[in-house]
Amino acid sequence: MQTTSTMNKPLAGRKALVTGGARGIGAAIVKRLAGDGASVAFTYVSAQSKAEELVQEIKSAGGQALAIRADSADFEALKGAVEETIQSFGGIDILVNNAGITSLKPYDQFTLEEFDQLVAVNLKAVFVAVQAAAPQMKPGGRVINIGSVAAEFNPFPGNSLYVSTKAAVAGLTRALARDLAPQGITVNNIQPGMIDTDMNPENGPYASGAQMIPLGRYGKASEIASMVAYISSPEAGYITGASLNIDGGGSV
Ligand SMILES: NC(=O)c1ccc[n+]([C@@H]2O[C@H](COP(=O)([O-])OP(=O)(O)OC[C@H]3O[C@@H](n4cnc5c(N)ncnc54)[C@H](OP(=O)(O)O)[C@@H]3O)[C@@H](O)[C@H]2O)c1
Repeated sequence: MQTTSTMNKPLAGRKALVTGGARGIGAAIVKRLAGDGASVAFTYVSAQSKAEELVQEIKSAGGQALAIRADSADFEALKGAVEETIQSFGGIDILVNNAGITSLKPYDQFTLEEFDQLVAVNLKAVFVAVQAAAPQMKPGGRVINIGSVAAEFNPFPGNSLYVSTKAAVAGLTRALARDLAPQGITVNNIQPGMIDTDMNPENGPYASGAQMIPLGRYGKASEIASMVAYISSPEAGYITGASLNIDGGGSV
């Protein structure tokens, strides 16, 4: 039976790490998980002042938060962030692989260095973080990847590298779900559509795409965070290997 405190704080006692958590979708996820009672560590690279403000905001509200500077493309630093989370909180239950980058240009203008950078941050880092975190998780652990609906439906030219990495994340999610099921860990992939952040501002270069969205608007970062909170909760224990589109119907 649920008590008032477990209803209000369904993630009380859970320990989470969110990559790229100082701004955008990641910051919304950090706030939501902390608001639901989890202790939340998050990584950042450039957004140091936002990271510090977010930690203060969560602590002022009585929560626990930790900002760790770690570039996801520096795999030793990323593994170090997982280790620091475990050392600081006494374990890890929820890993959210959110950090991501995009680049839009004709396929024949991408350099192989750009290819490697998108693969490193959007795909290889997901694998590295799971390798570091999952063996430390108890049954009930959660791996949540932030992919993109672009893995399934890409209405823009020039998106070859980003789409490739996000499609690979969907495949990796399915394969890891099978690998980690015996440990009682679920692995899921949340695929946002057009979400208003620095990466994709409502008035930015992708804005015309909003006309194709049945619900007729961009999504909010908090609308991705609410799905992360649900997947993190015990109620979602039978969902694994899924790619879940949160896109206002844009891919139907
Ligand atoms: N916005 C959308 O419409 C949309 C749609 C589909 C999927 N997504 C996915 O959602 C995730 C978050 O996107 P967003 O819209 O919130 O993007 P954003 O506003 O551009 O924020 C990107 C976040 O990723 C972090 N990051 C970038 N490179 C990093 C690296 N090398 N190491 C560690 N962190 C790094 C940034 O950290 P710093 O600021 O500290 O550098 C920042 O926190 C991404 O995986 C993105 O692909 C977004």
